[in-house]
Parts: sequence; structure tokens; C-alpha cells
Amino acid sequence: MRGIAIIGGTGLTSLPGLTISEERRVSTPFGETSAALIKGQLNEQPVLFLARHGSGHTILPHKVNYRANIWALKEADAYYILAINAVGAVNPSLKPAQLVIPDQIIDYTSGREMTYFDGSVSPVVQAGGAVPVVHVDFTEPYCPLLRSHLLEAAHKSGIELAGSGTYGVTQGPRLETAAEIRRMAQDGCDMVGMTAMPEAVLARELDCCYASISVIANLAAGLGEGEITMTEIKKYIAQGMGEVCSLLAAVILKIQSDG
Ligand code: HPA
Repeated sequence: MRGIAIIGGTGLTSLPGLTISEERRVSTPFGETSAALIKGQLNEQPVLFLARHGSGHTILPHKVNYRANIWALKEADAYYILAINAVGAVNPSLKPAQLVIPDQIIDYTSGREMTYFDGSVSPVVQAGGAVPVVHVDFTEPYCPLLRSHLLEAAHKSGIELAGSGTYGVTQGPRLETAAEIRRMAQDGCDMVGMTAMPEAVLARELDCCYASISVIANLAAGLGEGEITMTEIKKYIAQGMGEVCSLLAAVILKIQSDG
């Protein structure tokens, strides 16, 4: 069985129902992970868990050490990586607290460390230490196999969600302007968040099968009434988290039975 990891985002710094068997800080060639890497069992299935923003939710999206996090999960034998992301809705058909399984990404971030292939710890170092130029295919940024497991698990468990969508990734930590959101809508984004990149591409560079369960936390800037508040964001994430946990349990069973 190939290992399963969960990366918890905003609203999921620990995993309800997880029985912890080991918790250890991990240092990688890229530095330390955001939080201790947890090994445990969810519904009697082995899983790894890592809190993307730290165990106390203190690390801003642009400061997350994405390279260390994905490296540590791969080293701990993760193949399937289930990422939880809080997002704002750009597409008016998406409603707060709803879940989405995105299938595409547009990357608007800048200045983040977004590859393993740029130095001596590259996964493809050749004899003599040379690092060849590598361009990974990213046509489908999310692993189609894991996405289909998620969609089937949701269907079987009666969880209603949006089965596709384009995730626009902004740099943050501020939220967007109304004009930025109008532009993102024109670009084809259905939702906006700050954490899908470079996480998704780093997982691809290490040959992991990575997909996201995104939770709509708010209507994106200019689409709702008044200001977007952290209180509102936290309220809708908390509302969606019950379904996220049910979906995680169901998809882990599905992976175990299908491989
Ligand atoms: N914009 C960016 N990131 C987010 C949002 C948003 O509106 N909501 C939750 N994460």
C-alpha cells in the first residue's frame, strides 16, 4: 500500500479522529517542516498528517516552507497527498462552506521557492553533481487518480460538492481587490486562495499523487456585501470541516480498497 498524507490548512491544524502513534519534528535539506510530522491512524487506516500553517496556525501562506513539507512527506513514504485549502468563491455558483475538488490552477504568486530542480539537493542530481534542467508536465496540476477517488468517495457518502474548478493562487497575505477578482473571473478562476502553489507542483516534481479538497470560506472581494472578515472566514470553514473529515475518511477507505 502506498502511503497517504493529509496537509491540513486553515481550520484544520489537527485532525479529529486521528489516533497519533508518532509525532516528530523533521528537518530536510530545505529546512524544517511547518509543524511536527504526525503518523497515526484514521478509521484504522495509516495516515500522515502535517499542519501547513504550523500547529498554532502562525505561518503565513507566503512563508510556508512548501519544499520542506512535501520533501518530508515523500521521505515518510507518502504517495497520495490530500491537501485541504480554504478559498474564496469567484464563481457565483459556489457558496460558503461548500467543498470543491479543483482540477486546474492559475498561479499569480511571486517570489516563492517553487522547484526542487535548482540546486545540489535536486532529486535528479547526476554523477559528478550536475543538475539537469527538468520541466515537469503540469497540464493536469492535480492527480487525476486521486481526484477520481475523491469524487467517487463523495458520491458514495452522499457528500455534495463541486467536482471541478480552477483555483487562482494569490500571494497574500492580504485579500484581493475587487478589480483583481474581476480579472481573475475573466481569466477563468472559480476560486481564489493562497496555498495551492507551489505545493501542487512540488508534489508533482517528487512524483506524488496530489489533490485538494477546497472549502469555500467567503465570497471573494467585491462579490459579497461589505468587508470580508476573519470571523466570517472562520465560521464557514468550521461549517465545512465536518464534511471535509467525512470525505477524508471515505477517500482513505477507497484508496485502501483500490490501491
Ligand atoms: N482570497 C484569498 N485567499 C482566501 C480567500 C480569499 O478570498 N478566502 C480564503 N482564503
